[in-house]
Amino acid sequence: MPTAQGVPDVEKRIVVAALVFAGAMLALLAYAALRLGISVPGCVTNVKPFTAGEVIQVAPGRYEAHVVSKMWSFKPSPLKVPKGAVVDFYLTSTDIVHGLYIDGTDVNLTAIPNAVTYARARFTRPGKYQVICHEYCGSGHHEMYGIVEVTP
Ligand code: CUA
Repeated sequence: MPTAQGVPDVEKRIVVAALVFAGAMLALLAYAALRLGISVPGCVTNVKPFTAGEVIQVAPGRYEAHVVSKMWSFKPSPLKVPKGAVVDFYLTSTDIVHGLYIDGTDVNLTAIPNAVTYARARFTRPGKYQVICHEYCGSGHHEMYGIVEVTP
């Protein structure tokens, strides 16, 4: 049934339902980002590519890991941090594209030559976390592993 403005009621209801749905999706996105700590990895443009792998403690319980990937290893490995550590991973490659997935975490990055990618992880359980290359990178790809070791 058209209204005085000529917009059918059913169309208005669909617009309202779409806005409510979009609002609900935005609220879920904000909840995931702010309360669950889920973030999307991305390229970092303000960090220069590096050639040495290292772990730097930047504050109590906070670490920066500069991870270098190359055929067919990750440096540093084992990458040691204490239980409860929040680690910012900065990843680069010195040769070709590799992947970095840390088992048991949300960290899943692509290692790109001359670029740095970033992800954050919190390690609440001690133990050894396997690091896996998930981009095919040649004959040693299937043996390209590393370890994150979380000490008690
Ligand atoms: Cu490196 Cu596959």
